[in-house]
Amino acid sequence: MIKFNHILLSPLIIILATCCNTTTTLSSAVKGIYWIENQIFPPSSINTSLFTHVYYAFLFPDNLTYALHVSNATAATLTDFTTTLRAKTPPVKTMLSIGGSQSNSTLFAVIASTAATRASFINSTIQVSRTFGFDGIDLDWEFPADSNQMNDLGQLFQEWRVAISAEASATRRPPLLLTAAVYFAVEFFLSTTSPCKYPVASINQNVDFVNVMSYSLRGPWINVTGAPSGLLDPIRNVSVSFGLQSWIQGGIVPEKVVTGLPLYGLTWQLQDPNVHGIGAGATGPGPGLNGAMAYFQVVEFNKQSGGKVVYDIETASVYSYSGSSWIGYDDLLTVTVKIAYAQALCIRGYFLWAAGFDTTDWKISTQASKAWIHA
Ligand SMILES: *[C@@H]1O[C@H](CO)[C@@H](O)[C@H](O)[C@H]1NC(C)=O
Ligand SMILES: *[C@@H]1O[C@H](CO)[C@@H](O)[C@H](O)[C@H]1NC(C)=O
Ligand SMILES: *[C@@H]1O[C@H](CO)[C@@H](O)[C@H](O)[C@H]1NC(C)=O
Ligand SMILES: *[C@@H]1O[C@H](CO)[C@@H](O)[C@H](O)[C@H]1NC(C)=O
Ligand SMILES: *[C@@H]1O[C@H](CO)[C@@H](O)[C@H](O)[C@H]1NC(C)=O
Ligand SMILES: *[C@@H]1O[C@H](CO)[C@@H](O)[C@H](O)[C@H]1NC(C)=O
Ligand SMILES: *[C@@H]1O[C@H](CO)[C@@H](O)[C@H](O)[C@H]1NC(C)=O
Repeated sequence: MIKFNHILLSPLIIILATCCNTTTTLSSAVKGIYWIENQIFPPSSINTSLFTHVYYAFLFPDNLTYALHVSNATAATLTDFTTTLRAKTPPVKTMLSIGGSQSNSTLFAVIASTAATRASFINSTIQVSRTFGFDGIDLDWEFPADSNQMNDLGQLFQEWRVAISAEASATRRPPLLLTAAVYFAVEFFLSTTSPCKYPVASINQNVDFVNVMSYSLRGPWINVTGAPSGLLDPIRNVSVSFGLQSWIQGGIVPEKVVTGLPLYGLTWQLQDPNVHGIGAGATGPGPGLNGAMAYFQVVEFNKQSGGKVVYDIETASVYSYSGSSWIGYDDLLTVTVKIAYAQALCIRGYFLWAAGFDTTDWKISTQASKAWIHA
């Protein structure tokens, strides 16, 4: 374990010392976390010492008016979210996130495709954000499907920025922040049908930062085990490091990149309990809901079942197995290594998915926050 740490960290620390623009990058680090609306882990449970931005997940646009749909029950939740977090010490920025993996991707394509639909949508996002006291807006469109939709997304960001600036001047308030959750790489290079690239120029100009979803790169939908959020991939480029570098090589300003850290593991059922490495044959999801487990559940599972924990140097990831159950996840060490890597790339920060998945004493979130070295 110490060897692993040493091998991976030492070259990165050297790079860190040489490349970052410390005034712009390190002083305004982003430490984000998404909160998925739920009753069990309310916003009051969030320790705001560990974060700078907390995201409400999610609101959805109406499919006829393209305005955000806010029921009365949701309105109460939004109010509680922003007032609770603003009253905390230290306070955090509250972000309204729109979309998510369960939302209708085609609807976003429709909205982004014409000036009139973009305007209705943008107007509503600003109005709802201000009504409920949010500091910013986040778009989580999963995913634009071709280069036309990517162009439309660039246009949407541009008009959004114009509207946000106009609203800020008219009301003499600080402008709302504008962020977006995006694919782990700048291009959909794994898709053979329509490879397309994010509108990086528009992002640089109009978006405060993007939350790169550097996780769920592999899961039990594949018939072999693998690192769901491995920093490295010596074979196929399906890795956090490749994804982040592709964004930077694709032209994004590094200060606009925030990398995702999963507070969950993905699980497989091994074909043969005696074959349990990375790439072992698997028959489907293992323990947990649809093959997913919160970090605190992984810790519990490893303890209860005597799971063997293994660090894999090739992928810079951790997994555990017990019987025919196999879990790929992130722990204190892999998160520390990822943060050193992120700082070596001079990116803006990290975000966690999602609140309530860490241990009750916030072990990973605390380690991540401490590991991020400030100027
Ligand atoms: C919140 O996190 C900070 C920083 O790690 C810690 O000092 C503090 O005790 C935590 N507060 C609670 C209520 O857990
Ligand atoms: C809008 O959504 C509703 C409910 O999901 C559905 O019944 C309706 O067909 C949708 N309309 C359009 C225009 O997509
Ligand atoms: C929602 O709240 C508004 C204003 O408080 C009220 O007029 C309306 O009847 C409520 N709608 C529902 C469906 O409860
Ligand atoms: C998604 O939205 C599109 C465009 O409004 C609509 O045609 C389609 O029916 C929607 N799909 C679902 C599953 O609601
Ligand atoms: C949204 O549109 C309404 C009606 O045109 C307008 O009064 C309002 O100022 C707009 N809001 C924003 C934030 O652009
Ligand atoms: C991985 O990415 C590098 C750099 O873009 C490229 O040269 C290489 O062919 C890629 N490898 C695979 C297996 O796609
Ligand atoms: C997994 O599926 C691929 C084809 O999708 C197949 O070539 C491979 O043999 C399978 N591996 C195992 C361990 O079942």
